[in-house]
Amino acid sequence: MSKHQVVLIPGDGIGPEITRAVRRVFEAANAPIEWEEHLAGVSAMEAGNEQPLPDATVDAVKAAGIALKGPCTTPVGHGFTSVNVQLRKRCDLYGAIRPIRNLAGVPTRFDDVDIVVIRENTEGLYSGIENEVAPGVVTSLKVATEKGCTRIARFAFEYARDKGRKKVTVFHKANIMKLTDGMFMRISEEVGKEYPGIEYEQLIIDAGCMRLVQDPTRFDVLLLENLYGDVISDLCAGFVGGLGVVPGANIGTEGAIFEAVHGSAPDIAGKGVANPLAFIMSGVMLLNYLADQRGDEACRAAADRIKKGYNQALADGEKTGDLGGKLNTQGFVDAVIARM
Ligand code: NAI
Repeated sequence: MSKHQVVLIPGDGIGPEITRAVRRVFEAANAPIEWEEHLAGVSAMEAGNEQPLPDATVDAVKAAGIALKGPCTTPVGHGFTSVNVQLRKRCDLYGAIRPIRNLAGVPTRFDDVDIVVIRENTEGLYSGIENEVAPGVVTSLKVATEKGCTRIARFAFEYARDKGRKKVTVFHKANIMKLTDGMFMRISEEVGKEYPGIEYEQLIIDAGCMRLVQDPTRFDVLLLENLYGDVISDLCAGFVGGLGVVPGANIGTEGAIFEAVHGSAPDIAGKGVANPLAFIMSGVMLLNYLADQRGDEACRAAADRIKKGYNQALADGEKTGDLGGKLNTQGFVDAVIARM
């Protein structure tokens, strides 16, 4: 089979460093991928684009149907709207999948954590509808649609069924947001009835957070609206070693974009010390997705080689600083490649 055309968006901050790392690992694994680089975010504006998300990048993602994306910085409290959110919306990538598992060689407070966060990507408070209704009074609109709630609930239960998962838990605040979270919860419960082999559970998010930090191993698939999904993803990353080890996929009607959960990490950008593992793992998810969608077993084989490489590296204590190791980005990539 010929190579698969995949859009590669390096992003900014630590993005270009971890992109170089992924390119090296994919090449060493003989992954049948032809990268097509496109810009987004600060790097797109520095290259002279008027918009941080050029139409050419969106068109390329839609044409290829698949992309690997590095983190893009979003100005805090002012400036342009998040490129990451825009991309998910413009490509209608409504479902985020974030697997959070313990890794051998990365000791943490809890063992046996194996949670998959399913986050709704297009609605909620991320609709970006904010208004100043009077001087000193601002509002932000939370949006929930029946269509959006139904498709993400179905996405979560289909995922759970396909992966042999046992339980889907919804965190909500429907006691306060009776219409928006109320609809999310009600529809999730309804959709869940169509999957009798999978237990359905709903928890008010504050109590849910307490239970999560008391014992994360009691959770399986978490189904969350947009903002809760964002916050809980980072919280769960903390159970397994931090943001350096949590990959992600954004799946929708116009294709799929794979990206790590972490951001552009401006505090360490340019120092060559970022952990490239979450981005490499996102690449492994991409290869497995291609294998599933297009039946190319060469993608699966490359994914398995890379996975073996990083699992063995971690088990041997070859780790970056965020995981308590001494390696820099390139050193970790060398260790992975040597074990593939
Ligand atoms: P962040 O995830 O970039 O960093 C949080 C902390 O984790 C920092 O101390 C950072 O050094 C560390 N960290 C993150 N990734 C790491 C890695 N691979 N290796 C080692 N350490 C790592 O979150 P923060 O600081 O809140 O956001 C920075 C920027 O990134 C913001 O502009 C934000 O909007 C953007 N962002 C972009 C995302 C995306 O592109 N999908 C997702 C999250 C944030």
